[in-house]
Amino acid sequence: MSARKMITAALPYANGPVHIGHLAGVYIPADVYARFQRRLGKEVAFICGSDEHGIPITIRAKKEGVTPQDIVDKYHGIIKKSFADLGISFDEYSRTTSKKHYEVSQDFFTTLYNKEKFTEEVSEQYFDEQANEFLADRYIVGTCPNCGNDNAYGDQCEKCGSTLSPSELINPKSMLSGNVPILKETKNWYLPLNDYENFLNEWIIEGHKDDWKPNVYGQVKSWLNDGLKPRAMTRDLNWGVPVPLPDADGKVLYVWFDAPIGYISFTQEWAEKNGKNWKDYWQNEESDLIHFIGKDNIVFHCIIFPAMMKAHGDYIMPKNVPAFEFLNLENDKISTSRNWAVWAHEYVEEFPGQQDVLRYALLSSAPETKDNNFTWKDFQTKNNSELVGIFGNFINRVAVLIHKYYDGVVPAGDENAVELNEITKAATEIENFLENFEFRNALSAMMNLARFGNQYLQTEEPWKTIKDNPEKAASSLFVAAQIAVGLAQVCEPFMPFSAEKLQKMFNVPQINWEQLKNNKVLIKTGDQINNAELLFSKIEDETIEFQIQKLENTKASNKKTNPNANPMKDEIQFDDFTKIDLRTATILTAEKVEKADKLLKFSVDTGVDVRTVVSGVAESFTPEECVGKQVMILLNLAPRKIRGIESQGMLLLTTKPDGKLAFVTPDVPVENGVEIG
Ligand code: 2FM
Ligand code: ZN
Repeated sequence: MSARKMITAALPYANGPVHIGHLAGVYIPADVYARFQRRLGKEVAFICGSDEHGIPITIRAKKEGVTPQDIVDKYHGIIKKSFADLGISFDEYSRTTSKKHYEVSQDFFTTLYNKEKFTEEVSEQYFDEQANEFLADRYIVGTCPNCGNDNAYGDQCEKCGSTLSPSELINPKSMLSGNVPILKETKNWYLPLNDYENFLNEWIIEGHKDDWKPNVYGQVKSWLNDGLKPRAMTRDLNWGVPVPLPDADGKVLYVWFDAPIGYISFTQEWAEKNGKNWKDYWQNEESDLIHFIGKDNIVFHCIIFPAMMKAHGDYIMPKNVPAFEFLNLENDKISTSRNWAVWAHEYVEEFPGQQDVLRYALLSSAPETKDNNFTWKDFQTKNNSELVGIFGNFINRVAVLIHKYYDGVVPAGDENAVELNEITKAATEIENFLENFEFRNALSAMMNLARFGNQYLQTEEPWKTIKDNPEKAASSLFVAAQIAVGLAQVCEPFMPFSAEKLQKMFNVPQINWEQLKNNKVLIKTGDQINNAELLFSKIEDETIEFQIQKLENTKASNKKTNPNANPMKDEIQFDDFTKIDLRTATILTAEKVEKADKLLKFSVDTGVDVRTVVSGVAESFTPEECVGKQVMILLNLAPRKIRGIESQGMLLLTTKPDGKLAFVTPDVPVENGVEIG
């Protein structure tokens, strides 16, 4: 068995906070595994960080009207804090905009380039002439050839779910300018994945049939059966790690090239700070590389990244890639854009001190082999019936009884009592399950030990035997104390906050797994324990109803009476609204703008002044129709030059069912310059 464990958890995109789906499907299981490996005495590097490049980031930035850097700074902070608050014990949580990461990922690219592992290919890509940018597939919208949805993206139609390529869209338009994009030639560097088919077949299909999860193995097999194609490792974008070649201006590394290298660069950052050698973890067969990911990341971690590492030549291959399925929330797909989620940072605020409850609830519904479901009712039951009713109840009874009868000193008992084997049994079962990535079974094995403890007390009834058979009562509580400390030890990977409280309660240090399996006596006769501390408390119906109501509100606000209505833009604060100066105004004159079919030039009486506004309404109105109309104007919009004319403000318009524009106008005549709000 390898001495070292190089454990990675998928780098979350820094375009939004993390939710319970991420936690249940990647981060909590990965943390349990990492904590457990440390308890086995392995040298562990548990590495993660924010994925700060790629289209999800630039789309979010465009939506919020800020820079990509603003977006990643904001969400990196929120995500990092949520992980720390929930006890995810990363050795390093960094970010792909770090200087080190730029160096390491560029160096990796250069190595492959120098070894002639890339092919150069010129292809035609959509280009927005006005924005002067090549368009990522997500930046092209048009009509879906399969269902007719007018808002399908260049990579996918969200209405019918079909995967598309931009060339399939009917009437493609650029999301940047609204213009029809042109096709333009561009050169990029490709990794010929087809060259790695034999290697991948041998390594995974022949080598990991029995030890990789069937969902992972099956997906890889089907990719390989379909045959691999060269894949571009560079993109024409202005957000990402620049391609380190002289003839690659305006090109960056493909986000799926740079992101997994993040695991390596962050390990280097950690190693430098901690006097370790990162190569021991990445370039030495004595190390087990394990990637924790969601199922949508399988191809990247089992095909593309391994092919990159193989091409490089110095790296070990992953030992296992335990990919999880998805978690649903209240029987509906978790969705960031629909706000259908339980957000980690909100949970931490709304359930202070109850991190282990979420860890426990999510682990017990971890989507290990198939998609699973989280409901608030189930969360409440898990807390009230299992954590409070079984685990907490047992611990509390042991501590209270030892204080009541023995002033908190552990009484004498049989060190060979057969019941003590239950602790070893639980520790062994947990070990076997965790080595096999069976987190739910491991958690059950832990809870079964608490269940056993409760039943034991129930059968022994020391509160009765203390009167007629005090020796038996002592022996029962001696055994119960061992089980309680056994629980303090085995629960740590799953519930680290409770483990810490328990160790303090019983005055015991944390021991490693071998000691735990070999020592039957975990707390000695005569040892003093502290007063019982509350581990878990009942979650009331009101608390759960509040959460359910929150989701109901989301559902109501997601209901579309008009299927064509665009989704709501990101929420703004009242202060943002008060910055907007909307007024009533009257159009005094209107004329066509030369050589611009769509534009009319107006002079408008705004009550505060008479000003010029250029508006794209010429296809909907004649100039004569506009004169005298009362309209609404955005008064304090910064002036813009349109066809050489300075436009001072914007008239509010909407679209009629026939596609023509209409002015937004007050329903009775009012004075000009009256504020709207
Ligand atoms: O799917 C995602 O959220 C990606 N950001 C995961 C990246 S994992 C890795 F390779 F960096
Ligand atoms: Zn469609």
